[in-house]
Amino acid sequence: MTSYKIALIPGDGIGAAVTEAAWEVLGRAAHGAGFKLEGTTFPWSCDFYEKTGAMMPADGIETLRGYDAILLGAVGWPKRVPDSVSLHGLLLPIRKAFVQYANIRPHRLLPGVEGPLRASAFDILCIRENTEGEYAGAGGRVHNGTADEVAVETSIFTRKGVERILRFGFEQARKRRGKLASVTKSNAQKYSMVFWDEITAKLAADYPDVEVTNYHIDAMAARMVMAPESLDVVVASNLFGDILTDLGAAIQGGLGFAASANINPERDAPSMFEPVHGSAPDIAHLGIANPIAAIWSGAMMLEHLGEAEAAKAVMTAIEAATARGIGIEPGKHKTQDITAAVLSALG
Ligand code: IPM
Ligand code: MN
Repeated sequence: MTSYKIALIPGDGIGAAVTEAAWEVLGRAAHGAGFKLEGTTFPWSCDFYEKTGAMMPADGIETLRGYDAILLGAVGWPKRVPDSVSLHGLLLPIRKAFVQYANIRPHRLLPGVEGPLRASAFDILCIRENTEGEYAGAGGRVHNGTADEVAVETSIFTRKGVERILRFGFEQARKRRGKLASVTKSNAQKYSMVFWDEITAKLAADYPDVEVTNYHIDAMAARMVMAPESLDVVVASNLFGDILTDLGAAIQGGLGFAASANINPERDAPSMFEPVHGSAPDIAHLGIANPIAAIWSGAMMLEHLGEAEAAKAVMTAIEAATARGIGIEPGKHKTQDITAAVLSALG
């Protein structure tokens, strides 16, 4: 029987509850489809940091490298560990070390979910560059603590990095409705964003079947609210994609529905699957976190592993649960009741 080795990193706050829910659903789906998921849990988190002084062990990345995929809950507990420490100690290094350059985030309304917009039918796939750009980590501070202090944080856009994410976007558009929206701010940022637009234009010649439109980030933010149905695949830099996908989460009814996949398309290192929402410390022990984003991320993991049928079964089960009104109103249903509804739809 085919078996996949999955590294589970529940992390902080609601991460544990939603990862447990997703893992239960995925196990059931695997059983139904005749393959095995073998999970190993790593307690890397802010708790771990308080005990050891690091978010993960020094050889953490090398340990994870041996797995077929990583399922992550959430990272961060800012009252205990500054976000700049916890995220740079666990989530961001994994994305970079495993060259998970394509962060994919689907935004559509699940059955029964109304969302805040009048628009009821949209299906957007946001593709966020995930390894460089504004998150490159290049910068520094001088004259610390003085009136003359200066902080510099430089975005880094490489031809290799921009080309590969755009190519990935074109490929996704080709598999969907053939429309690619490339998001920049090249009217104001004349080096990196003009560079991005030039590469978009160059690659477009290889994809004559894809209709490409360039948008500025500000106009795209408005379009996602006013005319989300006009969008298919949206590709953006790391920070722009980060911001647009929180907007995407909002228009799809909230962060509880926002799934994501950090993909290494070359498959020379594991990819990582995580809900977009954070650790939500305020509701961490109330048992009311919505596990749907984590379960949906798990379905994306199955898809990536080549188990399309099981992935489809999980999505159908999520949709059956929300269509019955389960898990669509924040706080109304318990995490375990939503999970149970998905499990029962899975059969
Ligand atoms: C996300 C999150 C992270 C990001 C944070 C927690 C560093 O907001 O995955 O969207 O900005 O990438
Ligand atoms: Mn974000």
